[in-house]
Amino acid sequence: MLEVNGVTVRYDTATVLDDASLRVEKGELVGLVGPNGAGKSTLLRAIVGLIRWEREVLRGTRQADITFEGDVIFEGERIDELSASDIARRGLVLCPERGRPFVEMTVRDNLLAGAYLCKDRKEVEKNLDRVHELFPRLKEREKQISGTLSGGERQMLCIGRALMRQPKMLLVDEPSSGLAPRLKEDLFKRVEEIYHELGVTILLAEQDVSFAFDLSVRNYVMSRGHIIAHGTAQELLGDETIRKTYLGL
Ligand SMILES: Nc1ncnc2c1ncn2[C@@H]1O[C@H](COP(=O)(O)OP(=O)(O)O)[C@@H](O)[C@H]1O
Ligand SMILES: [Mg+2]
Repeated sequence: MLEVNGVTVRYDTATVLDDASLRVEKGELVGLVGPNGAGKSTLLRAIVGLIRWEREVLRGTRQADITFEGDVIFEGERIDELSASDIARRGLVLCPERGRPFVEMTVRDNLLAGAYLCKDRKEVEKNLDRVHELFPRLKEREKQISGTLSGGERQMLCIGRALMRQPKMLLVDEPSSGLAPRLKEDLFKRVEEIYHELGVTILLAEQDVSFAFDLSVRNYVMSRGHIIAHGTAQELLGDETIRKTYLGL
């Protein structure tokens, strides 16, 4: 479903991603694990067209030179030349790390904003019901101003908003970032439900290796901009060098 071939991203001379390649088949939940600063978020942002967008926005306004190389193929077609909104329209949606809702809008309006590409009202209502089923808390708080939500609720809203776009594939960036252990567990359960019950293909970037390994079919391990290993949780944990040096377990 998704194929990333030799993606390199440089900010000036700093190489943040170096020749990264990965594949995700339809119906898989694939983990992308690695420590803080490994390049996970940059890779996800590169896939959905945000590095190229950043390069356009910054062109001429600052000194830094952004390099983007490589191909990204989604459902058999090159998407690395498309705009971020065209990529989302094809059903490949990023749920960003510590995603920020529109803080002055209500929870409900934020979710509806996620559905801006869908013109069919009934379809939108149906998706909203589905998000409310998954996250009853968002239903309870639908009139609350989003800026006043707790960290966990905000994360739910971010995932809910991504689901309002009816993704075929979700790139979820550290859903549990900054949350207490119990909330973390709860959020991972929701990710699992999105995968099993809604049938959405998922690429999950996560520092918390144990959570990612619990859910994933396969995993890629990143370190300093490189994908250094790939395999099932069992295979990766069975390799002592990988386990100790890269997974810190
Ligand atoms: N917009 C940017 N400009 C310059 N450097 C960046 C930018 N985004 C990320 N980086 C750098 O790239 C490296 C990888 O970051 P990131 O992709 O956020 O890693 P991870 O998500 O694995 O923690 C970091 O050293 C970070 O500072
Ligand atoms: Mg990150």
